[in-house]
Amino acid sequence: MVFEELKIRHVSIRPAHILAPMAGITDTVFRRFIKQLGGCGLIMTEFVSSEGMLRHNLKSQRYLYYTEEERPITAQIFGADPDHLAEAARMIEDLGFDLIDLNLGCPAKKVVKCGGSGLLRDLPLLQQIFRKIRAAVTIPFTVKIRSGWSDEEIVAAPVARMAEDCGVEAIAVHPRTRMQGYSGRARWDIIAEVKANVRIPVIGNGDVMTPPDAEALHDQTGCDAVMIGRAAPTNPWIFRQMMEYFRSGTYSEPAEADRYELIRSYYAMLVQENMPGAIGKMKQFASWFTHGVRNGAELRRQVQSAQSAREVLDRVDEFFTNILSFPCPAPTA
Ligand SMILES: Cc1cc2nc3c(=O)[nH]c(=O)nc-3n(C[C@H](O)[C@H](O)[C@H](O)COP(=O)(O)O)c2cc1C
Repeated sequence: MVFEELKIRHVSIRPAHILAPMAGITDTVFRRFIKQLGGCGLIMTEFVSSEGMLRHNLKSQRYLYYTEEERPITAQIFGADPDHLAEAARMIEDLGFDLIDLNLGCPAKKVVKCGGSGLLRDLPLLQQIFRKIRAAVTIPFTVKIRSGWSDEEIVAAPVARMAEDCGVEAIAVHPRTRMQGYSGRARWDIIAEVKANVRIPVIGNGDVMTPPDAEALHDQTGCDAVMIGRAAPTNPWIFRQMMEYFRSGTYSEPAEADRYELIRSYYAMLVQENMPGAIGKMKQFASWFTHGVRNGAELRRQVQSAQSAREVLDRVDEFFTNILSFPCPAPTA
């Protein structure tokens, strides 16, 4: 079966479907929520600053909080100082994470000055970083890259080879350049090129929105796993749908009652966990998630104008109680 399992040393990722790290989205509650829906074999923290970690900054500690049910779990770090990154990597290992990942993709101005995709322009420094992190930890070490800084500086294949030579054990490729940001299409041919250049597993990422997209990514690149980012908050079922699709050739769409269960359980988890910024997250999530819901604009309005997390929950309950008591009108010819 396509993407049935990926092994990174002793860590089994089954199925080989990975939730991409997304700052502001993939916190502990969102990760558990995705895992509970099924079909996702590996989750990752959002990126954490190595410098922040060394200062024991509270935000970094919050980003690194996880629970046992999240395993296997990768912590992703970023930075540009080889010794500081190595120290941060040791801390990650001590915190019990299953894998450590280095971010070489972030395009944000603030980040490229001190790591992220900026390091793709300084390969000697990058090599030093790979070696220092590798020497600092025993857990599997992976990296996540963009294709390069700009169209004139595509470095994915040489970076992948260098990473492999330094003992990196898997590489995720989001084949857009730093200059591209999120515009244009992800160039899957670059994932295929990386795959042809290394023996370590290659994780394909970029523009996979549906199960058939994941199949096409597999067919066009031969990649060993698929990583899903932006599709996850709008369609958190995508991991399960991929599993269904690879088994049977078809997949089902959630019914209205499933959508209710989903939105309610995510919100209830946020309230239960007392997540800082819970109400902001609820509002953000509502704007993504209510699109497939009948009268979704009204639900969005209800959520946006609520004053507390509890009030959001009550309004969601009320909305769906009303809507679910009126069956969907039959489609007209
Ligand atoms: C809001 C947002 C936050 C992101 N944060 C991170 C991050 O912390 N670390 C990282 O490696 N990539 C980050 N990314 C990039 C994604 O992991 C992924 O590579 C990219 O979105 C392409 O995949 P997709 O087309 O499936 O979304 C972020 C993307 C988005 C949209």
